[in-house]
Amino acid sequence: MLVEEAKGKQADGSNTPHYDLRQIDCDPNFWYPVAWSHKVRPGKTFAARYAGHPIALIRPEYGSVYALEDRCAHRQVPLSKGVVDDKGCVKCCYHGWAFDRAGKCVTVPYLNKEGVGRPVKSYPCREKSGLIFIFPGDPALADKVPVPDVAQVGNPEYKTRMFSPRLKCHYTFMHENLMDMNHQFLHRRQMGSITARFLGQDKGDDFLEARYSFARKGGNQPLAEALIFGKHHDYEDREQPVEEVVSIRTTYPYQTLQIHDKDGDLIMDLWTSYVPLGETQQVTQAFGLLSVKKPKWNFLLNLAWPALGIFTHRIFEEDREIVEMEQNAWRELGGDHNVEVFPVVKSLRALLARSGVPNKYAHPVETASKSEDAA
Ligand code: FES
Ligand SMILES: [Fe+2]
Repeated sequence: MLVEEAKGKQADGSNTPHYDLRQIDCDPNFWYPVAWSHKVRPGKTFAARYAGHPIALIRPEYGSVYALEDRCAHRQVPLSKGVVDDKGCVKCCYHGWAFDRAGKCVTVPYLNKEGVGRPVKSYPCREKSGLIFIFPGDPALADKVPVPDVAQVGNPEYKTRMFSPRLKCHYTFMHENLMDMNHQFLHRRQMGSITARFLGQDKGDDFLEARYSFARKGGNQPLAEALIFGKHHDYEDREQPVEEVVSIRTTYPYQTLQIHDKDGDLIMDLWTSYVPLGETQQVTQAFGLLSVKKPKWNFLLNLAWPALGIFTHRIFEEDREIVEMEQNAWRELGGDHNVEVFPVVKSLRALLARSGVPNKYAHPVETASKSEDAA
């Protein structure tokens, strides 16, 4: 079996175990978005999930949102089915036990005694850029890890679109898909004949960035693409270089795609986070924000906004079909048979493998390659 995985987090040298990349869990010691802010209204609860852990988000009428394990300490029914009381506590829908933001049970209404009910786990919780983040790992580390900056949210020079598709695949397929611009062939119906040119990469312990430019060999430039890149005339048979530079970066565990124009101005800024839903992390809830620089005549962007949405949606649906097929192949073959040839993706796979944590079902696999990062 050809498996060429790099090491998991516990690995420290040459004789370390290697794991199938699709059995490497996300490192929980980061901030992960679990809901859009606007979905959690004042005085309401919301059911979210991280890697098999049910999470109840609670927003009191006054005060900040908080996150608890979504299981009542009494009979484990979801606290997200409960109600928020006037003290900002969540009351379980069954017997009315009330829990505060630290997860402490403050009331068992039918027993007039303090300290009867057991607590539930609470998660560090922050709100930023229209997203609610939780820290699923060691709470003691939460304050040391920054909540990420998200695209150009709040910058009046940009218009931002939000999207949150759910994908039936491991999060690592998503990182590979976006980083690897050599798959424009897949998108030929949406974008015509466009080819990527690899310009270079930078990498470090926790990041990898690849830069590309594009050349159009034929086909019509879609309206939405013209709006982002600017209109490129004269498609004849000659290659038309597009001078914009596309930079794709995985800064573990997040991913960004930025487009700078020939003057170095940031004209498009995409931020995504891939959040595992199930315990085996083979279903991913993505949260994405796409910021587009407003042109001089802003109404043009407003006019083209729906077209831009359809354009990006179609491209995304093509990617979704592909990554879900990759996941199915992994399942059917019982492992990862990826024969990677592109050095950037080899480096990315190594980054994801060393940054994550082998899950409890992972077992060491035989491998011929010492390190994918050698490329
Ligand atoms: S199950 Fe929650 S109060 Fe009884
Ligand atoms: Fe794609």
